[in-house]
Amino acid sequence: MKAIELENLLKEMSLEEKVMQLVQVPGSVYAKDSATTGILQETVPEKVRRLAGSTLGIMDGGKIRDIQDEYMKHHPHHIPLLFMLDVIHGHKTVFPCPLGQGATFDPDLTEQAAAIQAEEAAADGVHVTFSPMADLVRDARWGRVMESTGEDPLLNGRMAAAMVRGYQGPDLKDGRHVASCVKHFAAYGAAEGGRDYNNTELSEHTLRDSYLPAYQEAIQAGARMVMSSFNSWNGIPVTGSEWLMKKILREEMGFEGVTISDWDAIGQLIPHGYAEDLEDAARKAMRAGVDIDMTTGAYAGYLEKLVREGRLPESELDKAVLRILTLKNDLGLFENPCRGLTEHLPVHTPEEKHALARKAAAESLVLLKNEDGVLPLKAKKLAFIGPYAMSRDLHSTWAINPDRAQGVSVWDAAQEMLPEAGVEVRAAQGCDMVEDGTGLSFFVYHDADQREKNQKWMAEALEAAAWADTAVLCLGEHLLQSGESTSRAKLTLPPCQLELLRRVKEVCGKVIVLLFCGRPLEVAQMADHASALVVCWRPGTEGGHGILDVLTGKVPPSGCLPMSFPHTVGQEPLHYDEYATGRPRPSEGNDMFTSRYLDCANSALFPFGFGLSYGKAEISPVELSGSELREGEHLTARAFLTNHGDEKAAHTVQLYIQDLVGSRVRPVRQLRDFRRVLLEPGETREIAFRIEEPMLRFWRADQTYGSEPGRFRVWISLNSRDGDPVEFRLC
Ligand code: GLC
Repeated sequence: MKAIELENLLKEMSLEEKVMQLVQVPGSVYAKDSATTGILQETVPEKVRRLAGSTLGIMDGGKIRDIQDEYMKHHPHHIPLLFMLDVIHGHKTVFPCPLGQGATFDPDLTEQAAAIQAEEAAADGVHVTFSPMADLVRDARWGRVMESTGEDPLLNGRMAAAMVRGYQGPDLKDGRHVASCVKHFAAYGAAEGGRDYNNTELSEHTLRDSYLPAYQEAIQAGARMVMSSFNSWNGIPVTGSEWLMKKILREEMGFEGVTISDWDAIGQLIPHGYAEDLEDAARKAMRAGVDIDMTTGAYAGYLEKLVREGRLPESELDKAVLRILTLKNDLGLFENPCRGLTEHLPVHTPEEKHALARKAAAESLVLLKNEDGVLPLKAKKLAFIGPYAMSRDLHSTWAINPDRAQGVSVWDAAQEMLPEAGVEVRAAQGCDMVEDGTGLSFFVYHDADQREKNQKWMAEALEAAAWADTAVLCLGEHLLQSGESTSRAKLTLPPCQLELLRRVKEVCGKVIVLLFCGRPLEVAQMADHASALVVCWRPGTEGGHGILDVLTGKVPPSGCLPMSFPHTVGQEPLHYDEYATGRPRPSEGNDMFTSRYLDCANSALFPFGFGLSYGKAEISPVELSGSELREGEHLTARAFLTNHGDEKAAHTVQLYIQDLVGSRVRPVRQLRDFRRVLLEPGETREIAFRIEEPMLRFWRADQTYGSEPGRFRVWISLNSRDGDPVEFRLC
């Protein structure tokens, strides 16, 4: 349809029809087995079922086709229903969780992965995905860090933009792409205490400098929707905040697409203490500029009344409706309400999809320790032990519709790849994934004879460990311990897993730990017992293959931490780009009366950007092409990276800059660019980065955005802690 035709359509619609375009009902209203809960079929009036503008959580293409066909028979103006779904790291083929994708520092790979996810989802009739989650995260106690790409604004921005490009592609009408809904605007990841849905307490300049940039990158990449978040900021729930949803999002960021609340977030304005009742909530959310009400019924129940009583301008309603009609039109739904379902245009073969998932899994792994060159594997007798050795549940709770039959466990891959290399392998469960007290008892059932089972598993594990010359301990969080509403006050593995590690170490000299997790954990004890420690995150469908590719040296490890790993949870929230304070703790000498803990270091156990590879990397001191930078010009910073090992090595070289004096205090370091580099044994490569004035801008004390003349430090390093800086002056 042309734009004028959409405007004419809008004029023909009744007030009731227009209101219903702003209503999103759970998929359970149309399909009993949808991924959504909440309102059931019976409780939703027939009128709402027939006129609602969108639904979410239906995953099956056949059901979507039936629902759409039925819906189009009854809609008075034949406006198609919009189907939305959380496809955040895979629909059928599951890629590493977003935190694992952040660890790749490879936006190109993420863009390719998003294109495959979109293709699979579109073929099932999905029109919109609720992704990327562009929330900056600094607190590992928050379970949703798994869905973020980490603690750095630049990395998050590049990854979010890559996902948007991958999902939406060059042509939203081609039936192989989906519209992207970036979430959760804004600063949802700053929940106090790391406790989900909690208030966020941060300054405007921290909001602007650290939390908003990644949403901005996603919007500039063309994201067609934005989802408002559950949290409150500056005393106002975001879903009712005109300042955030209109002044910042629309006026400053230039977003012209459709906004949607998070699940029931409009209704939650009441328990927030911001709205009297659902009518008041509806009015305040509309005033804030939230176009679609996800599942509360506030809009369905009260918008018509508010308009008729003159308490909501119908023009506001019309703008929201036109944005939704425009999105449906740009998706090609008016021409083909079942777009995606009918074209059958797969671009990627199953082999190509699995190859990319395998590559992504390998690139997401972060090697934190590798002593005595235990990796790549040289052992001839290997025992794979632990609750994750044979598990194919390597996706996350947000991979709601994975093709489980395609999942590859570590043990599957070991049996497939190692014997042909002359390596004998054994597997043993060793212990349960969790035990009581982890807060999962509602979901995780233990048999009456669990105690006997554990004893049997332990005995088998120790026998296998005694037989092997190297034990690979596959440990980690339960699938249900990261994701929405899974905040934890402790960041430790269950005692049963730590006991297994300790006892295996007693009988087998060499232990490699593979850690499956959706967040940074306390790994000091694991690191002490292990000769090698590899963070595997939630690696997805091809997790087993990707892990064995790295363990065998077929692919060198290249991942870098997208979030700091603490010594202890007491350090959270923890992030590398902190402020120096007026009493910085010296690296040596008397640190009395400085900013410190009595019982713990300030720094991370493993810092943001850290990740080892095979071989021995050496990076030369950074050199600058000049000592002064003027607006419109650039400096070049360069260093030389050498691989002294006899294995291939892959590293992400990172450029950090510090603004030494500003009208506001500035972070001790900020990532300003990064580049992945693959090195052959003995190879040396020059790495050069451009430094330009826009990189130095921030939200200044005079409430404007820009740079300030003065001294700056530059590092080129392999993580956010190491390296010696050089200085330049911005003139
Ligand atoms: C959930 C999540 C959000 C998700 C939405 C729809 O509560 O907060 O990330 O996209 O509901 O499932």
